[in-house]
Amino acid sequence: MAQTASNEIERGSWGSRIGFILAAAGSAIGLGNIWRFPYVTGENGGAIFVLIYVACVLFIGLPVMIAELTIGRHTQRNAIGAFEALAPGSAWKLVGVLGVVTGIGILSFYSVVAGWTVGYFVKTFAGEFSGSVSAAQSEAIFREFVSNPWVAILLLGLFIGATMYVVGGGVSEGIEKWSKILMPALFCILLLLTAYALTLEGARKGLEFYLRPDPSKIRAATFAKALGQALFSLSLGMGAMITYGSYLPSHQRVPLSAFQVALFDTLVALLAGLVIFPILFSMGLNPAGGPGLVFVVLPTIFGKMPLGWLFGTLFFVLLALAALTSTISLLEVPVAFFVDEKGWSRRRAVLSMGSLAFVLGIPSALSQGGISALSSLPGIRIGFLDLMNAVFGNYCLTIGSLFIALFVGYRWGVEKALAEIERGGGRFAFRAVWAALIRYVCPVAVIVILGYILVTGQYF
Ligand code: PHE
Repeated sequence: MAQTASNEIERGSWGSRIGFILAAAGSAIGLGNIWRFPYVTGENGGAIFVLIYVACVLFIGLPVMIAELTIGRHTQRNAIGAFEALAPGSAWKLVGVLGVVTGIGILSFYSVVAGWTVGYFVKTFAGEFSGSVSAAQSEAIFREFVSNPWVAILLLGLFIGATMYVVGGGVSEGIEKWSKILMPALFCILLLLTAYALTLEGARKGLEFYLRPDPSKIRAATFAKALGQALFSLSLGMGAMITYGSYLPSHQRVPLSAFQVALFDTLVALLAGLVIFPILFSMGLNPAGGPGLVFVVLPTIFGKMPLGWLFGTLFFVLLALAALTSTISLLEVPVAFFVDEKGWSRRRAVLSMGSLAFVLGIPSALSQGGISALSSLPGIRIGFLDLMNAVFGNYCLTIGSLFIALFVGYRWGVEKALAEIERGGGRFAFRAVWAALIRYVCPVAVIVILGYILVTGQYF
């Protein structure tokens, strides 16, 4: 007990329950909800995708989140160390290794898009969208902006630099301080934008696309994309929640925390869709517009809506900061590993891992027109950023989650996990449901979905 207490002090621990929820929600809520969710939904048939997505959150995401937080809290270790602690000398630590690699991979391209939000904040603030902006103009502005190689690299560097600064400052102050103000503010502004979007002429068509499921739009890749999106959005499958859970004191209830984080994260994503699709259809844009979607759609209303300049500026600031609370958790995974297991100083770990992500991010930054060879890779016809997004942001998280479920279900064992879950927090009302989900539903569903993708070859 004494050891746990001193361990908590040394490694840092969350200042308060609400501090943890907000930080975990800060990790979960980010570009995944506001940038990725709407465009992936747009590309994959709208409402039917949303339905499958929500099912993935409930039946796969939530149980895996409980599993990750529990592993983290029990072992008080980083993503790799946690597996080593529970299954010493076994190959299970490779799941953690995959997580660390995935964290750096996601951080690299994620920071490119986060850099765009910073650029769009500057543009909005400078009044570039204050007049009326047509859909075609907005598209042209976006193309020109992202294809400038120097700006893209500069913003990437700036964003990773900011992430390194916060992560270098330690756990509770660094992360909690930001999340407490940010998430609620972002939520409010989304509500405001939704209210406006719904008044637009043509909003109905957007709502239909978004809310009336059409099963004929399901393709082989739809399930894999919905699952990948759910895991990405909830920050699962790479040990971010193991690492965050390791800073969790034992008296907090893991399932309740996980539920609240998942609920809040899903609400924000659903709300983002409710903003984007009405505007998109009223402007006559294509829902399958790809990664530029949010950046093209939103500026078209800032010139028209009352106080649009103010809301637009606020929106992009908050989005950039929400992205920052996510990149913090991405960088924290490798950093916690090098600090805990390799005895590196936090500073050294932050500097080296941050620089690595920056270098890896450069081809993504240049793939949007900066260097045309990177915009459409030979053989697969997608750009470098899309490739990173699919490999790390989708498949690595899916495979990672599969192994986390298998680990808890069959190696560590649900009984031991349940003992940890119930330690200090009282009986877990859904213990049998959770055990069944983690042992059977999650592994079977993930294997079927991945198998289907392999057979049909529709990877992207
Ligand atoms: N969940 C974050 C988002 O939605 C991204 C993320 C993925 C963060 C994986 C950490 C781990 O923006």
